[in-house]
Formats: sequence, C-alpha cells, structure tokens
Amino acid sequence: MRHRFHAICPYFAMFPESFVEKHLAASKYEGVVFDPFCGRGTTIFESLLRGRAAAGCDINAVAICITGAKCDPPTAGEVLTRLDELEREFVGSSPSEPMTEDMEEFFGLCFHADTYDQVRYLRQQLMWQTNKVDRFIAALCLGALHGESHRSPNYFSNRMPRTISTKPAYSVRWWRSGGYVPPYRDTFGILRGLVAYRYRTPPPQQRGVIVLTDARFAAKHFTDMNGKVTDVITSPPYLDTTNYREDQWLRLWFLGGEATSNYRRADARHYNKEFYWRFLEEAWSGIAPLVANKARFVVRIGGRRLEKAEALSSLCNTLTSGLGRAVRPADNGVTSSVKSSQANSFRGAKASPTVEHDFCFIVS
Ligand SMILES: C[S@@+](CC[C@H](N)C(=O)[O-])C[C@H]1O[C@@H](n2cnc3c(N)ncnc32)[C@H](O)[C@@H]1O
Repeated sequence: MRHRFHAICPYFAMFPESFVEKHLAASKYEGVVFDPFCGRGTTIFESLLRGRAAAGCDINAVAICITGAKCDPPTAGEVLTRLDELEREFVGSSPSEPMTEDMEEFFGLCFHADTYDQVRYLRQQLMWQTNKVDRFIAALCLGALHGESHRSPNYFSNRMPRTISTKPAYSVRWWRSGGYVPPYRDTFGILRGLVAYRYRTPPPQQRGVIVLTDARFAAKHFTDMNGKVTDVITSPPYLDTTNYREDQWLRLWFLGGEATSNYRRADARHYNKEFYWRFLEEAWSGIAPLVANKARFVVRIGGRRLEKAEALSSLCNTLTSGLGRAVRPADNGVTSSVKSSQANSFRGAKASPTVEHDFCFIVS
C-alpha cells in the first residue's frame, strides 16, 4: 500500500515516489541520500522508508513544514492529545485577532466565519517551527486548507484548486460569478479524521534531517554529514516556470506569512538561462562538502526553453565546477512529457514546461 504520509499535502512540480524508488534501487551506494531542493520531501521520505539515512533542505516554509512532518513525525497519540488541548482552549477563547485584516473580502468568501475563527486560531497557536507535534498538525492543515470542497468534506475553504492557491482577486471574482459560498467546516474534526487516515501506514523507523535554508548555503547546516552523501536525487526549480511562493501564498499565510500573494518575481535567475545555470552551480557548490568520494547525482529538470542536449551539458558543467570534482553522465538521460495537472489547467498550458529531462551523473 502507498504510504499515507506521501500525499499529506500536494505540492507543485513534485515527483512521484516511483522515481526515487527506481534510482535508489539502481544505486550501489549506501550513504546518506540528500535533496537540496526537497519540495514536499519525496526523496527523503522514500529513502527513509527504504532504511536509508536521508536529509535535505528547501527555501520554502511550506515545503519544510510538510517534509519535516513526514520525515520526523510525532506519534498519532501525541497529535490527538494536542488536538484535544487546542480545541479545549479554542472553545474557551475569544477570536484571536480582530476579524478585519488585509483582504477581508477574500477571507470572507474563502472561509465560513466560524471555520475562519478556527483557522486563525490554529495559525496563531501552532508552533510549527519548534515543535514537531505542532508541525505535523500544521502540515495536515496545509493539506486541508484549500481544495475542491464541493467534492470533499475535508477541505476548510470555499472551492479552490488544492495544488496552488489562486490569487485573491481572481478567487473573489470566480466565487462571486459562480455564487459559491464557503461551507462550514469543523477543522478539529477534520484533523482527527486525517490523523486516523494518515497513521494507518506506520511511520518509518529512521528520522530525516530537514532544514529551511537556501541550497547555496546548505553545507553549514549539515556538518555532521560532511563526506557522507552518496546519493543526491533532486529536482531544482525549473527554468522559466513557477514561483513557488506565489503559488503557495495562502499556505504561507497559514504558516505565519503576510496575507498577500504579492511575491514579486524580482529574482531573474529562474527566468534567464545565464543566471539559472550560475544559480545551479552555486547550489552544487553549497552542498559540495557533504558529497562522498564517490556519489551518484540524479537530477530531474525542465523548462519551456530547455532542450535535452543543452540541459545535459550545462548540468554536467555546473556540477563539475560547483562540486570541484570529476563528473560524468551515466547515460544520455530520459525525456518525458509533463502530465497535465490541476495546476497546469488553472494556469494555462503556457505556464508550464511540456517536457522534463532526467539525468544521472557519477561523481568521483
Ligand atoms: C521542482 S521543486 C522540487 C519538488 C520535489 N522534488 C518534490 O517531489 O516535491 C523545486 C523546489 O526548489 C525549491 N527552491 C527554489 N529555490 C531554492 C533555493 N535557492 N534553495 C533551496 N530550495 C529552493 C522550491 O521551493 C521548490 O520546493
């Protein structure tokens, strides 16, 4: 059975666990598995399930909350006890903040007023950065925060895609034009149901190490892993595609961020090839101290303007200079078309790459 932690929360551009499974099986190494762009943690979690030590980082708080919850979870009993405590305190409390806040219209249409009180209470109470029980509950909340609530009783919001948070003005127009009203949802009841469902598959014995950081500075957070990483299985942000913060703005708000989707695309490195390759070179350099004498790097990469030959040679060059080691491709790579996803259909075909390339490199 598929482990029920895998899908705790959707994440844009995630790869399937079968991809990780295939590459772990193909590796002859047994050291630490590392993912510097871990997203929702597929590499790390699947490696732990297979008895491998695993670690990784990401720059996005949503990614770190989900991955941390999956890869270093509390027991189900601890989660249920904390939910009881939170609910008791909520029932005895007055609303945690005044109802007026930025984007009042958006929030008033997104959540039923009573559900919104609970959501804001949980947002304020959950110490997800420092407490792993709270982090697990926060990750469950992220997965339930928005979605197709007309199809499932487990989403807190008015109907919305579950993969990305649509922009406030667009959402308001759409809800108004369709006459969609937010359903009442008891978040505590939903969360208890999700705990029962998710823990039906037991968590892995091994625990992963997950850090919120830019990959370019990763090594200093994992010094006890210096020279121990034998397998990197990763997927960097694709050239010229998504902005992970903008796409996850409502989940970032839940984790304590501003009530805004206005994450500007000021950073050209994901949209300009020269900056993009330089960024990847810096990222490989940022993890270089962790890499063992012999290691295997698997990289899934994509972009609307990224041909396979160029991707292979540029990746090989950036790995060679970033790691400061000899790097050779294990094969010519595999190109596949990107499945149409819910996020793609919302954004229109132009926003997403049509193909992805998978490459494997041997580092010595
Ligand atoms: C293609 S996604 C990875 C998805 C992942 N393989 C999964 O299965 O969920 C790329 C990730 O890189 C992260 N990212 C972007 N810039 C970063 C940086 N400078 N350092 C670390 N992570 C970064 C994004 O937040 C995003 O989660």
